[in-house]
Amino acid sequence: TSPFAPRHLLSIADLTPAELTTLVRNAGKHKTDIKSGNGWPHLSSALAGKTVAMTFSKRSTRTRVSTEGAIAAFGGTPMFLGKDDIQLGVNESLYDTSLVLSSMTAAIVARVGPHSDVADLAKHSSVPVINALSDLYHPMQIIADFLTITEINPSSSTTSLGLEGMKIAWIGDANNVLFDLAIGAVKLGVDIAVATPKGYEIPAAMRSVIEHAASTAPQGKAGKLTETTVPEEAIKGADILVTDTWVSMGQEEETAKRLKAFEGFQITSELAQRGGAKDSWSFMHCLPRHPEEVSDEVFYGPRSVVFREAENRLWSAVSVLESFVVNKGKIQ
Ligand code: CP
Ligand code: NVA
Repeated sequence: TSPFAPRHLLSIADLTPAELTTLVRNAGKHKTDIKSGNGWPHLSSALAGKTVAMTFSKRSTRTRVSTEGAIAAFGGTPMFLGKDDIQLGVNESLYDTSLVLSSMTAAIVARVGPHSDVADLAKHSSVPVINALSDLYHPMQIIADFLTITEINPSSSTTSLGLEGMKIAWIGDANNVLFDLAIGAVKLGVDIAVATPKGYEIPAAMRSVIEHAASTAPQGKAGKLTETTVPEEAIKGADILVTDTWVSMGQEEETAKRLKAFEGFQITSELAQRGGAKDSWSFMHCLPRHPEEVSDEVFYGPRSVVFREAENRLWSAVSVLESFVVNKGKIQ
């Protein structure tokens, strides 16, 4: 890569623990400032006159709305390009699309199927490329998730998010959201226990990526990843119970088979109690949610922080655009 190559955000793995901490902190700072009416005069025109391309090959509510809102907050213009709007994928290659889009925009935010698509866009782009969900990673979600976790566990530390020693239990499918969550957790000193049905475990190559992420944490401070096929084992002593859909976009044909394989994995209060979650446990979910993976009682109950987590997507998008687009990859 040339010294002028832009810095991209394709996964939480691209960030040092300190950078992840800063992105989460900045998200929280902007949330407080803007919501309190203090605004952010120095940033509100940072992208004035500029366009950010949003190429989305899949549906989206939160990622689209938060990213468009964040671009507007910087005075820029979001240009949403759904799969039927542009030539990409039907009539034009990723390579050509990347050169063309990056010649006219300040950044490209891309939601893709295979991760190699967003990696290819990034490889040839002259502007920053932000992954808005691939089959492997969902970095903007995970920054919002750690902001949410810090809000429910505030810390007075000025050097870290103060989450060391916490435990997250992921009960469900080993998917894109889990992979980036696990990478972030081990970097921040948070233990993560994953329960999946047999046959739906974290792929070996991804386990290595997570192990490598752990090696980037300060010595002796990495969070631990553990895996099981028994939800109760993962839940024991957990501060946070989290899940996602059992059928990710693109896996629709496997629906019947997956619903069967995941039987017994629905998060309920009863399961949390049986597994021995901490008394203060909270529930998280990136959304969209389906009733099979979590009961209404938990999802709409007092332990659930899912709608705060969804709102935090806006502040995550603001923070990511600030560092990667406005500040050209300098995370400070
Ligand atoms: N959580 C999330 O990415 O939601 P959308 O698919 O609605 O963007
Ligand atoms: N795992 C889900 C996340 C959606 C935000 C999917 O890939 O469809």
